[in-house]
Amino acid sequence: MLPDYLSMFLADHDCLSVENPATGEVVAKVAIHTLPQIYAMIDKATSQGRAWAAWTARDRATVLKRWHSLIMDRKEELAAICTMECGKPFAESLGEIAYAASFVEWFAEEGKRTYGETIPTFAQGKRVLTFKQPVGTCAAITPWNFPLAMITRKVAPALAAGCAMLVKPAEATPLSALALESLAVEAGLPQGLFRIVCTEDPVSVGKLFCEHPQIRKLSFTGSTAVGKTLLAQAAGTVKRVSMELGGNAPFIIFDDADIDAAVEGFMLSKFRNAGQTCVCANRLLVHDSIREAVLERLLPLVRKLKVGPGNVQQTQVGPLINRYAVQKVVALVRDAVEQGAIVLEGGGLHPAGPQFFQPTVLDCVTAGMTIANTEIFGPVVSVISFKTEEEALRIANSTPYGLAAYFYSRDIGRIWRVMEGLEYGMVAVNEGALSTEVAPFGGVKESGLGREGSHYGIEEYLEVKYSLIGGLAA
Ligand code: SIN
Repeated sequence: MLPDYLSMFLADHDCLSVENPATGEVVAKVAIHTLPQIYAMIDKATSQGRAWAAWTARDRATVLKRWHSLIMDRKEELAAICTMECGKPFAESLGEIAYAASFVEWFAEEGKRTYGETIPTFAQGKRVLTFKQPVGTCAAITPWNFPLAMITRKVAPALAAGCAMLVKPAEATPLSALALESLAVEAGLPQGLFRIVCTEDPVSVGKLFCEHPQIRKLSFTGSTAVGKTLLAQAAGTVKRVSMELGGNAPFIIFDDADIDAAVEGFMLSKFRNAGQTCVCANRLLVHDSIREAVLERLLPLVRKLKVGPGNVQQTQVGPLINRYAVQKVVALVRDAVEQGAIVLEGGGLHPAGPQFFQPTVLDCVTAGMTIANTEIFGPVVSVISFKTEEEALRIANSTPYGLAAYFYSRDIGRIWRVMEGLEYGMVAVNEGALSTEVAPFGGVKESGLGREGSHYGIEEYLEVKYSLIGGLAA
């Protein structure tokens, strides 16, 4: 049952069918926007954005804080929608609502601190200063794996900075996005300033966002392949871009680590959203001398995981998003086994339904295998052994990705060496989860450009203007 405020977005024809990945059932049909409608939305957002930019930061913050409160007040309802369309366990959906809301609250405050500078002058009678201005109308393309948080992480800083924003959510998860738009309007956000664009033609809409001259900034979260296409398309209008792309996180357990803590941290990292996150552990690198000890602790925990629909209370691992995701995981596991990996647990489809995959542990994976060089996006653990710190670092850095990395060690010298040596935008030491609104989220190498969250996140939506004032000599 959908809340009333979503009924205005539903339609019987020219619509997107939203499926529950746990059952395959169509749970809603959402009206799609035509290209002329999207052009009109861009025009309206641009004119509303000019007015919004003239509001004081404090007044903008008041609206954003009301939006934050409404999201938190409706957290159960939003979590149910999130679980219904993306499949994650309800408890994880509740966590996502709080995570999504945290960006709104954070940037409501950060909007008040977008300071300029006065710079010591280079000549008598002249003064040098800078101030910050909103970049203008922005567009975002967001994924299905965090259908709320990946929107607020972009929209909240944009709005706080004084920009307008259009968002194209993933075709699989428009309901969470539309719910956010409704609550923003209920909170007092001017109509048309933040709009969700629903389409069954994401390629054309992505191209339109990249090429439209009124859109001054594009923020994308998704695959590296699509990110590269968008980057090339955005070059024509020299658009500002932020790209949060694919990852291939190494999770390294050194021989001096607290093994129990490391395995606990690994489970947290690996199985969040059934392994469908950009920052989840993709490769488990274990020192040879503790491999048996790690597996002894890991295997019973993996066996105990409860797989099922996200709305069933005990569920810890939900379905994969669609049949293509399942086919990809099946093919990666098959290929790894053909190349010598050994299945210690799972390895195939789960009886809960056609989109469920068994929590799987593969041993004897090597750095050259496809599974070690591909973002798995499924509940599969690939164990790779190493003998030295140098070898661990070399394997960890050996892919084009550089989003998140994790390692466990108790040796302070090693902690600094490895922390500095990992070619990643984010490194967690003795921790299995690092996402928070207060810290900069983003990658290096082919994992992306720019940072989201933290005080850095709002800079992505601001231009620095330099002003020179002359004629001041007496
Ligand atoms: C992602 O998978 O892209 C986001 C994960 C997070 O914010 O923790």
